Amino acid sequence: MSQLTRMLSAIAITFTAAGSANAQSITLYTDRPTARLAPSVQKFTQLTGAQVNVVELPYAKLIAQYEAEGQASPADLIYIKDMVLAGELVKKGHLQAMPTAAAVQAAQTVPAALRDSANLWTALQYRARTIMYEPSRVKPSELSTYEALADAKWAGRLCVRTSKHNYNEALVSSLIERHGEARTREILKGWVDNLATAPINGDTAVLEAIANGVCDVGITNTYYLAQLIAKNPAFTVRPFFADQAGAGVHVNGEMIGVASSSKQVELAGQFIELLLQDEYQIHASNDHFTYPAKESLLPLTLVKDWGRFIMDLTPWSKLSEPSRIQQARDLMNEVGYQ
Ligand SMILES: [Fe+2]
Repeated sequence: MSQLTRMLSAIAITFTAAGSANAQSITLYTDRPTARLAPSVQKFTQLTGAQVNVVELPYAKLIAQYEAEGQASPADLIYIKDMVLAGELVKKGHLQAMPTAAAVQAAQTVPAALRDSANLWTALQYRARTIMYEPSRVKPSELSTYEALADAKWAGRLCVRTSKHNYNEALVSSLIERHGEARTREILKGWVDNLATAPINGDTAVLEAIANGVCDVGITNTYYLAQLIAKNPAFTVRPFFADQAGAGVHVNGEMIGVASSSKQVELAGQFIELLLQDEYQIHASNDHFTYPAKESLLPLTLVKDWGRFIMDLTPWSKLSEPSRIQQARDLMNEVGYQ
């Protein structure tokens, strides 16, 4: 082989390698805002040469599209905001087990309750859904558990979001786990009796109602409060982490899994590994005032000022079982929780 031929073949090999790397891509289906994923997507392309196509749609549309495409779907990963949705995906067989030992190992840095035991999904971030109060009207010493908000003491003082939302379905599922069906029915009835106003459409609106004196206490996700305080440091509402002497505060979160349609499972696994690296865990936590799911990490945002809490470690896979969620919906309906 002449020197020129050797040079040409070396160039050809380099070109082919770069060309095939550029041709690779994975597709992520999500109901989360695409912009939040930008740093991890860029890094992934830098590391692997593969592009990440992000398809962002509201959950119902996202899954309708996925189901219409069937096994021909381009989806390699599904990334969603809530355990109730993960329960549905598992039940429908839309996820497959994480494909590589490295991805499974990365997921094991997340508490066992916050990931699927068969490695169908793992949480990436979580938040607490807890009691919120206005400190000039309520002392923390008056607060304790979710069920205590059913006491007559709170008559006309409680605000809640409507029952037609996954966040409350998951919370009520956790109450069923703690107290059983009969006691949970009583608690929900007590909440309804104590409402200051009809159930409100949105956590932010619940927090504003507490701040504005419509009610004194409510139940919302922690990141909604953090967003309000970040915008307005004078916002007075504060969280009280429920049930710290019992089962712990209810947590829920964002999770990711490999789509059953994926034909590029190795790359999909690598993207999960990347999202569980400290840097991207902290980036996501900073971006949305959530808690990084990776057990070794603490948040850096203002939520750290609220201190550590004991979380309910009932496996999310149990709380999110579709039959259990239906039981929660039925109970809320029965007591007239709108
Ligand atoms: Fe939310």
